[in-house]
Amino acid sequence: MSFYEIDIIYPHDAKELIKLNVLGWIPTYFNNQGKKKKQKSVAEFIKTRLSSARIKQYQQFIADKNFIGVKAINKDLGIIGYCDGAIKGKEVAEIFGIYVLPGLTSLGIGKTLLDSFINQVHKQMPSVNFIELTVLEKNIRTIKFYKREGFKIISKQTLDSGKFIYRSGYRVLLKMRKTLI
Ligand SMILES: CC(C)(COP(=O)(O)OP(=O)(O)OC[C@H]1O[C@@H](n2cnc3c(N)ncnc32)[C@H](O)[C@@H]1OP(=O)(O)O)[C@@H](O)C(=O)NCCC(=O)NCCS
Repeated sequence: MSFYEIDIIYPHDAKELIKLNVLGWIPTYFNNQGKKKKQKSVAEFIKTRLSSARIKQYQQFIADKNFIGVKAINKDLGIIGYCDGAIKGKEVAEIFGIYVLPGLTSLGIGKTLLDSFINQVHKQMPSVNFIELTVLEKNIRTIKFYKREGFKIISKQTLDSGKFIYRSGYRVLLKMRKTLI
C-alpha cells in the first residue's frame, strides 16, 4: 500500500506548490554558498517566490487549458511532490518542474509523478510524442533522474543574466527530450 495518492493540480493548490518548489530548490540551488550568504539568498528567494502576485500568476497558469499538472498527496503531510507543464502542440508537451519534498526523495515518487504526468498529457492530447524540459547543468542528480527515465540532452544554452542564476553560478541550461513510443 502506498503512503500517497496521485491527483491532478487545481488552482487552489498554487501556494502549497510554490512552497514545495522553494523547499525543493534550497538544497539544490544554494548549497554552494557560505552560511551568511545562503541565509540572505534563501530569504530573498522565499520572498520573491511567495509574493501574492506570483501566487496569482501561477493560479492563472494552472487554469489555462493547456496546463498539465499532477501532485502526490499524503493525508498527514499534504502535497509531497508535483510535476507540472503544458501541452505545446500536437506532438510536444513540456515539463516546467518536478519536485519532491526533501527527505522523501529516492522513494519512487518522482518516477510515479513523471509517469502520471505523461498519462495526463495523453488523456488531453493522444498525439503527443515528445516530452521536453530544461534543467540546469549543475543539477546533476536531477539530470541523472531524467536520463534514467529516458530523457536525452538535445541542446545547451548559456544564460547571460538573471540575479539568482548569475549569483549562484548556475548559468548553463540543458534541454532534454523523451521520445514516447
Ligand atoms: C528530481 C526529483 C524530482 C526526483 O524525485 P525522486 O522521488 O527522488 O525520484 P525517484 O525516487 O523516482 O528516483 C530517485 C533518483 O533520482 C535521482 N535524484 C535526483 N535528485 C535527487 C535528490 N535530491 N535526492 C535523491 N535522489 C535524487 C537519483 O538518481 C535517485 O536515484 P537513487 O535513489 O538510486 O539515488 C527529486 O529528487 C527532487 O525534487 N529534486 C530537487 C528538485 C529539483 O531539482 N527538481 C528539478 C527541477 S526541473
